[in-house]
Amino acid sequence: MKRRDAVLTALKDAGERGVSGELLAGALGVSRAAVAKHMAALRMMGYGIKGSAGAGYVLVSVPDLALPGEVGPLLESSFFAELRGGGETGSTNDDAKALARAGAPEGTVVLATRQTAGRGRFARAWSSPPGGVYVSVVLRPSLSLAEAAPLPLVISLGAACGLEALGVPARLKWPNDVVLPAGPSAAPGKLAGVLLEVSAEPDSVDWVVAGIGANVRRPSWSPFLDAAYAEDVLGSARTPSLARVAAAMLEGIAQVYTTFLSVGFQPLVAEYEAHWVLGGTTVRVSDAHGALLAAGKATGVDSYGRLIVMTEYGEVVLSAGEVTLRMPGGTRET
Ligand code: BTN
Repeated sequence: MKRRDAVLTALKDAGERGVSGELLAGALGVSRAAVAKHMAALRMMGYGIKGSAGAGYVLVSVPDLALPGEVGPLLESSFFAELRGGGETGSTNDDAKALARAGAPEGTVVLATRQTAGRGRFARAWSSPPGGVYVSVVLRPSLSLAEAAPLPLVISLGAACGLEALGVPARLKWPNDVVLPAGPSAAPGKLAGVLLEVSAEPDSVDWVVAGIGANVRRPSWSPFLDAAYAEDVLGSARTPSLARVAAAMLEGIAQVYTTFLSVGFQPLVAEYEAHWVLGGTTVRVSDAHGALLAAGKATGVDSYGRLIVMTEYGEVVLSAGEVTLRMPGGTRET
């Protein structure tokens, strides 16, 4: 355990009694000044800590942020190697890629409270203010590039299953968007997006960085999981903490990813389709520049994770693209 985590654990264990700086310094084998520095760093992260090295320290509040010290204890799976980050960064995907290049093992996680250069699919910016969950995971699947093709669907299915375990009715929009159904007072919309970046030779993947961004508390343009939405859709005004949302998505990803590694994507197709919002709907699929690739009825995904669309000219199978749902009242993007 890193010293900062050990300090946090000691504060949590001590509760209202608090813990003396001297005791902590002795237990960790560091000076009292070093303990004071850790306390200052934890305060900077948002932890409310009363007291000083002389008077003893008491943890009075824990921030509602997806910090490693909060997410880590909620993870039950042994899949995750190390949780890093937690504050502000450019992009957790960039940080995770640097770690992967330096040899970080599968299951290394990078978290951020906000990103200044968050990226989405098609090189779009991913707005990342505080209130969202921004997390990237290093994966090292022993697969060829072709075998790894369904991974975006695997990761989004995992994130959706994790959110479902929290009671969130998460659904999927091919290839890798997690969306929420409409509530009586909230429109349907995107809850989370997945961005995969891969380093591979054709016959073997070296590493994959799976980045997930979830719009949890951004009511100005994403009402999901805010109090009204929670009341309407989740049946409770209590919304899960950001740490719980991050941990749930990570757990779901670990579970679906390990299943995929052992049995492939074919047995997961039914589960993916059970979650998706496209089944039987009329869709338009465009490329990154907006050029139309196919228009018709979405009929399923295949064992490579490709979207099958029945167009007026016959069946079209797509391995990439942006889907727009065509609704009776017009076209809308979820
Ligand atoms: C999309 O829907 O376009 C994918 C969005 C992915 C955003 C996440 S946030 C964490 C990770 N870091 C990034 O810069 N992007 C991904």
